[in-house]
Parts: sequence; structure tokens; C-alpha cells
Amino acid sequence: MSKLGRFNRIMRFMINNKNNKNSEIGAPSNGMEKIISLCKRRGFIFPGSEIYGGLANSWDYGPLGAELKNNIKQEWWKRFVHQRTDIVGLDAALMMNPKVWQASGHVAGFSDPLVECKKCHHRFRADQLTADHCPECEGQLTAAKQFNLMFKTFIGPAEDEASRVYLRPETAQAMFVDFKTILETTRRRLPFGIAQMGKAFRNEITPGNFIFRTREFEQMEIEYFVRETEWEKHFEYWLGEMKAWLKHLGVSEKHLRYAEIPEGERAHYSKRTVDVEYEYPFGRKELYGLAYRGNFDLTQHEKASGQDLKYVDPENPKDLPDRQAGKFLPHVIEPTWGVDRSVLVAMLEAYQEEEVKSKKEKVKSEEGEEDIRVVLKFPKWLAPIKIAILPLSKKPELSKIARKLHKELSQKFVCEYDETQSIGKRYRRQDEIGTPYCVTVDFETKKDKAVTVRDRDTMKQKRVKVAKLADYLNDELAI
Ligand code: GAP
Repeated sequence: MSKLGRFNRIMRFMINNKNNKNSEIGAPSNGMEKIISLCKRRGFIFPGSEIYGGLANSWDYGPLGAELKNNIKQEWWKRFVHQRTDIVGLDAALMMNPKVWQASGHVAGFSDPLVECKKCHHRFRADQLTADHCPECEGQLTAAKQFNLMFKTFIGPAEDEASRVYLRPETAQAMFVDFKTILETTRRRLPFGIAQMGKAFRNEITPGNFIFRTREFEQMEIEYFVRETEWEKHFEYWLGEMKAWLKHLGVSEKHLRYAEIPEGERAHYSKRTVDVEYEYPFGRKELYGLAYRGNFDLTQHEKASGQDLKYVDPENPKDLPDRQAGKFLPHVIEPTWGVDRSVLVAMLEAYQEEEVKSKKEKVKSEEGEEDIRVVLKFPKWLAPIKIAILPLSKKPELSKIARKLHKELSQKFVCEYDETQSIGKRYRRQDEIGTPYCVTVDFETKKDKAVTVRDRDTMKQKRVKVAKLADYLNDELAI
């Protein structure tokens, strides 16, 4: 749901839910702690600027996290841009003319209600409080005032009003601002869409819950331009596409809810909004959104810029209502996906702890046998590392073959080479980061010209001829 719509909902929430316990404040639940700790331990995601004590709620994606996030973005782009004929991509500047944000309504209305404790001066989002006093010190709170969430900075050396610009709070607006240019350069006909992914910035009052709500995050958005008479059909279609994407990401339907946002709680321009909500360990909250934005944004930008942004119907069909034939501003269906929330949900869904029954797979530690394995059962396309190449020992006769295999396989797949510690421990390490296949080079390899391929999910092992290995893995990974 857009911020403007959220504001209405927030106010109703404040009135109706004064005694509800707020789940976004306080320590993350156990499910989150395990994910956060795994992310830090294995270098997926860790606190930003850590050697300087960090920066509140900023997170860095390490080597595995960067792969994971890139896989999501690349798959999304492939699915919604490359594999379709009706959507084109855009990579617009992050800082736009400030008039864009005046026209879009963000300068006036992109805000959350802020209250401050008169005693300890902590600040809170009014809609997230469960009582009318400070949750830290019980002090009295100020009246709620609207706090604009856009980050501001200056272009050039002068730090005055004339040089003020904003960091974009959503990727959407550039797709409206560039609509006419894209239309003219690509000669698209309705219905068609523009897709953009990238960073967005919001000065959230209460960020938290790991990467769920941060001040710097990434979005993947599509503005899909349609005829007004056809909006309902396209809305249903995009709801279906969002559901199919979630299945592809490995998200179980039972953790999802599609919340129809009632009239009065939606943004004023929206005739229909559906929030895709997920059952996080800290409560059910928004994951993605789908909105019918009408032609609000194009109308606003046409008015504010003085430019004609209308679509000229090349077919000019006679059977359409007059105002739609000829020249008109198309209506828009907007499906929007948060990249970081996609990463979080993918990790929560993939995380499993399993008892290891096979003697071969047991690992010894100082405390005895470890018979629980942590495994990230990512869909194969999503796994940050696809294949691990593991020589059974560091002996040159094995490592020579293994290094050659690594070189060959990494031309096509993201691979890892690991020759330290016992093979059991190395399997556990790969399970924990979700690597679908481990290829083990052993003392038989030289004789039978074959290696062992271990499957992450079943832990079953198969002997595969080295000459057929690349084809075998190619088929298994189906990439
Ligand atoms: N253009 C429409 C728009 O921006 P939104 O509901 O405000 O709508 C879209 O944001 C998506 O961006 C959300 O569904 C969520 O996945 C993600 N998102 C929004 N604010 C976020 C934040 N502070 N941290 C992480 N992700 C966020």
C-alpha cells in the first residue's frame, strides 16, 4: 500500500487498536535470531560500518548475500522484462528534479505520524504505539505531527532551498516522468509496462526487524499502462503473476495472505489495492503490494510539467468511448516487490534443521556427534553457490583434478572450492549456505575417471563420470 494510503490506515489503527501489542518494537523472535545469526556467521548479511560501531539499521550484503540478492533481481528482470514482449526496462537517476516529488504528492503527503516523549525525548511512530505514554520511561508524549520521510540533500556547493533535492523514496515516479520518451523510442502499444529496480530511501522513524524495514532498500516495480476500461482484467492478471513469482521463490502459500485494502484506507487515487502479506516471525506484515493507480500520476506530471504526456492511439478504435479514442492518459496497474523483503522471506522459507540419520553424514565435534544439520533449501536458481568442489584430501594428486574441475565448471556456474577440514564438516558448511550440489574428488577418481555428486536435499550420493559431469549438473540445475 502506498504511504498516502497507509496514513489513513494508521490513523484508524490508532483509534481502534490502542491496547494491541505492537510486534515491530522489541527483540526479534527466535526464528529471526537464527536467520540473523546464520547471515552474520556465513557472511550473507551483517551490520554496516561495523568497525565504527555500525550505523543504526544499516546492513551490508556480504559475498553470499550479494549473490542471493542478485539472483532475485536477475530472475525478476528475466521473467518480467526479457521473457516478455510487452515490458521494457528503465534505469533512471536516483535524484530527480524536486518538482517530480511535488507533483507526485510526496512533498506534501509522504509522511508518518511522529510523537516524542517529553521526558526521555525518544521518538516513535504514533501508529506503532500501544499506549498513550512512552514505552521506554512511561513519560508523557507530544501530540502526533507528520514527519516527511524523504531524505534531503543539496546539488552543488550552495546548501539553500534552491539547490535542495530528494533521494527517491520509490522507483515508480521515473517510470511516469519518462513515460512519453519511452513510448516514443520503443513505439509500444497498450497494454505495455515499464520495469525498474534499484535503491529507494525513506527516513523511517522506526526501522527494524533486520532487513524488513530499513532506511535504504531496494524495490522492483512495474508500471503497467492499460486502457481504463480494462483495468480490472489486468489487476487480476498481475495478482496471478505475483502469486506465481512467490511460488517460484519457494514461498509456501500457507504463509501468505492477500489483504484487500478497503476504501478509505487506500491512497485517494486508488480504486483497488491488495497487500501481499507474509507471516514473519514478528507478525503478519506487508511483503509486496499491488495497486490500481488510475491515471493519477500521469495527470499530475502533465499538469506540473506542462508537457503533453498523452498516448496517441494508433488504432483509434471506433467502439471505444470517445474520451478513450484518439488521445488519452493511460491508467496504471502497479505491482511492487521489495528486494530485501524477498531475501528475508526466501531465507525464512528455506531454513530447516534436520536430524541426520546416516552414519556417513554424522560430524564429530568437541561435544560429540552433531546429528542436526542446518540446511537452506533454496530453489536451485536462487542458491548463491550452485556447486562446491571438494577434494577428499589436500594431496596434490586430488587437488590438481579438483582445481581443474573448478575452473571448468565455474565458466557456467557459481562454484566454490573448499579443501579444509573433514568432508562431513564441508558438507555441513555447504548445506548451511544452500549449495545444491557437492562434487567430491577422491582416491578412486584417478582410476574410474568419476566423482561423487551429493544432493543437498536428499544427501544421496551418485558416481558421475568426469567427462559427463558438466552435462549432468547442467540438467540437474536446469539453468
Ligand atoms: N511505488 C509504490 C510503493 O513504493 P510501498 O508499499 O510504499 O509502495 C513497495 O513500497 C514495497 O517496497 C513494499 O511492499 C516493501 O516490499 C518495500 N519497502 C517499502 N518500505 C520499505 C523499507 N523501509 N524497508 C524495506 N523495504 C521496504
